[in-house]
Amino acid sequence: SVCDIGFIGLGVMGKNLVLNLADNGFSIAAFDLDASKVEDTIAQDMAETGLPSARVVGCSSYTELLACLKPPHLIVLSVPAGEAVDDVCENLIGAGIQPDDIVIDTGNSLWVDTVEREKKYHSNFILFSSAVSGGEVGARFGPALMPSGAPYAWTRIKPIWQAIAAKVDAKTGKPIERTKPGEVVNEGEPCAAYIGPAGAGHYVKMVHNGIEYADMQIICEAYQMLRDGVGLTSDEIADIFAQWNRGPLESYLMEISVEVLRHRVGADNTPLVELILDKAGQKGTGLWTAVSSLELGTPAPTIAQAVYARSISSFKELRVTAANVLQGPQISPFNELDKQNFIEQLHDAIYCAKICAYAQGFQLMKLAEKEHNWQLDFASIAKIWRAGCIIRAIFLQPITQAFARNPELDNLLLDDFFAEQLNQHQLNWRKSVANAALMGIPTGAITSALSYYDAMRCASSPANLLQGQRDFFGAHTFARVDKAASKKYHVNWSSAERDMVEV
Ligand code: 6PG
Repeated sequence: SVCDIGFIGLGVMGKNLVLNLADNGFSIAAFDLDASKVEDTIAQDMAETGLPSARVVGCSSYTELLACLKPPHLIVLSVPAGEAVDDVCENLIGAGIQPDDIVIDTGNSLWVDTVEREKKYHSNFILFSSAVSGGEVGARFGPALMPSGAPYAWTRIKPIWQAIAAKVDAKTGKPIERTKPGEVVNEGEPCAAYIGPAGAGHYVKMVHNGIEYADMQIICEAYQMLRDGVGLTSDEIADIFAQWNRGPLESYLMEISVEVLRHRVGADNTPLVELILDKAGQKGTGLWTAVSSLELGTPAPTIAQAVYARSISSFKELRVTAANVLQGPQISPFNELDKQNFIEQLHDAIYCAKICAYAQGFQLMKLAEKEHNWQLDFASIAKIWRAGCIIRAIFLQPITQAFARNPELDNLLLDDFFAEQLNQHQLNWRKSVANAALMGIPTGAITSALSYYDAMRCASSPANLLQGQRDFFGAHTFARVDKAASKKYHVNWSSAERDMVEV
């Protein structure tokens, strides 16, 4: 029993987290049901360090893993969300895990499952969760971590998590680069902050992914506008995105979009993107975010549109059939000046839509906080998203500042900085949405964000008529603007007098 940490699940994420932990001086006992993954992790570790023995102890069973660890045991799981997590938990119980041992679930578990699991395994061990964002490179050189669960467990995990997490330069809000095996970063602010009790961390990671879906979709819509609207090549679009990536849109997702667009394959050097089938996959976190927003009754239409866009994409055959049946408008050719304006307008549209997607995500977390009695620190959440994670962006710095200025901010749109940004760029955003509509290019995310913006700044919505309709067919009653809000009224629509009564 010599190792600090036990690790179960050595897929791409697991293996890279193990190597990251080892770089930071932690000793690890690692296990995977697939023994070749244990061997692979050890081989990669030795190849990277050039040492004659690995920094990782390979184990071939749950019992052996527990025997390798210092008590109370600390075990990290990197297994797919769902049944696999329970399988591992049950196996650990069978292997003799103790009530003061800590098990950390790093997958994208559904947050309610985490709440249930914490209760279910309460007498067997302490279940802690910490979603990881950043893909394989993040896991290897510094992910964003969203820990939640028993505060006692956090005191034990904190130094380890802060060591392996991505780090940010506090002044600029930019990630501190770490790219080589063996390298560690001991300065800057770590992207690992305690989120709250069981479930809170997975909820926050779920919303992170919802925003990720929206951000990706917004970029993809810009790509389609430039490809089909202006007729640009993949390389030309990459050049535009690269330029955008030097301004307020600077982000990991913009950066990787440039890389994907520039990548060429085959003897004829075809841009890879032109060979990739246009059917999007999804593993569920975006959908869960949209569902949660509907359940809590807080609008997240841009996130929902991003999920719908993936659904529509999956109906490839239907779309191909419909393309031959349904007509769109003719797109007239552009002159150079039109092109420049179109591109500038699109830039601003993306920027504004992105602000709205984040505003929706943060408002959703605020509602969930109230509903579940959590105490979320939104400035801290924005802070840990500034590096390591998939939605890392320069843009997270003003969001951090907005919530630091006002921790009770109801909606990001109301922050002075963002209100001003939207005000400044909205005309171009509107022109871009109009361009898309006139050209027949689908921009569900960008357009829904504009509707959201307009609906949110609408002091007088048309829901008065809606309440009238509801009262007409279902006697659902309505409140009146000229009476106390608590009073409810109904019109006897079927009577000749149509008299109104207070109910
Ligand atoms: C991250 C990502 C990661 C993953 C999701 C989304 O933060 O590192 O969000 O968790 O890419 O599984 O995947 P889908 O696009 O397949 O839903």
